[in-house]
This record gives sequence, C-alpha cells and structure tokens, in this order.
Amino acid sequence: MGNEGLFITLEGVDGCGKSTQGALLASAFETQGREVVRLRDPGSARLSEKLRLMLLDPGNDDMCDECELLLYEAARAQMVRELVEPALARGAVVVCDRFYDSTFAYQATGRGLSAETVAAANRIGSCGVDPDATLVFDLAAEEALARATHEGADRLEGEGMRFQRRVRDGYIQFAKDNPTRVRVVDAVGTVEVVHARVVTALADVATF
Ligand code: TMP
Repeated sequence: MGNEGLFITLEGVDGCGKSTQGALLASAFETQGREVVRLRDPGSARLSEKLRLMLLDPGNDDMCDECELLLYEAARAQMVRELVEPALARGAVVVCDRFYDSTFAYQATGRGLSAETVAAANRIGSCGVDPDATLVFDLAAEEALARATHEGADRLEGEGMRFQRRVRDGYIQFAKDNPTRVRVVDAVGTVEVVHARVVTALADVATF
C-alpha cells in the first residue's frame, strides 16, 4: 500500500482492550517495514500529557462539562500539530488510542453536551485531521468496567455503570452514522482472536 501516511484510531469504553490491540496492530505494521507512531489521546505530546493528568485526576471532581470538553480539545490540538501531522507527512502509520469520537461518546452521549457543541469543538481540536479508519472495540459495559477498574478507577472510570452504558451506546450509534470510517470489532475473546478481527476490519486500508 505504498508509503502514504495512515491514521488509525482505536475507540471503546474504558477496559475494552484497545491498548493491547493497538500494540499488536503496531507490531503487524512494523513487520511490514512501516514506521509506526503509537499515540494516546489525551496525551503523547508534553503539554497534552500535562492536560491528561488534570483531566483524569479524581481530585478534580469540580470540573464542569465545558471545561472538560475544552481541555480534551486543547490536548488533542497539541498532539495533532506536534505529532500526528508530521508523522502522516513522512508516510508513517499513526495508531492512536482514542480521538474525537471519544469526545462524542463521553462528552455528548455521556455528559449530555449537545452534539453541535461537541462537533464544533472537535473541528478545532482535531485541526481538521480525520482518521482513515476507526475501530470501536465493543464490550458490555459491565465487563469493560470490571477490567478497567481492576487497578483503581480514574476520574472518568469512577462515573459508574450507567455512564459507561451510555458511552457504549454512543459508539454503536456513531458506527451506524459513519459506516465507511468506523468499524465495530467484537472485543470478546482472546487477544489473538480479537486481533484477527482487527486485521479483517482493516482489510480495505491495510494488508498484513
Ligand atoms: P484512557 O487513555 O485510559 O482510555 O483514558 C482516557 C479517559 O478520557 C477515558 O475515560 C475516556 C476519556 N475521554 C473523554 O472523556 N473524552 C475524550 O475526548 C477523550 C479522548 C477521552
């Protein structure tokens, strides 16, 4: 598939296994000789990691929804300008845990901010850069939360089951609304079985 940049984002409720699958996917691309840049949103760039700490700190439970939205977008914009755009320009594969679909799922469907507000904020935060393909790792909220909180919950994970259910429903809805870009991957099964589903889901953008 040449050396054109490829931007893949991984989404899903907390504990869905996207980071493990991201690492496997990155190895698969590297085996083909591709440069892979692994990122996480919020985070990866120095300033974005500082904002991440602020966003996930359980002590910041006084954060209002609008502040939360703008901090996620600020972290994303810095990551896009500093890391995503240069990587794509030199033909790398960018595999990023979360991106603007998380903001729809968490801040719109989860928190209740309007879809228009989140869409406008997302345009700024993404600097107009869209993923080529997005994988949503789908898992029942109960199982995902049990996995995610195994080692202690961060501020978002502490929101509980009803919140996680809304987030999951949000993801399934986006997948229906954006069938070309967003692909739902069943996250139930062994790491190897789920990886095989990932490879199938990306068949139109990458061959392994
Ligand atoms: P994670 O990196 O462990 O997935 O944690 C990031 C948390 O931030 C996760 O609970 C989802 C949440 N989040 C949002 O609420 N909105 C966003 O736009 C992003 C990128 C993440």
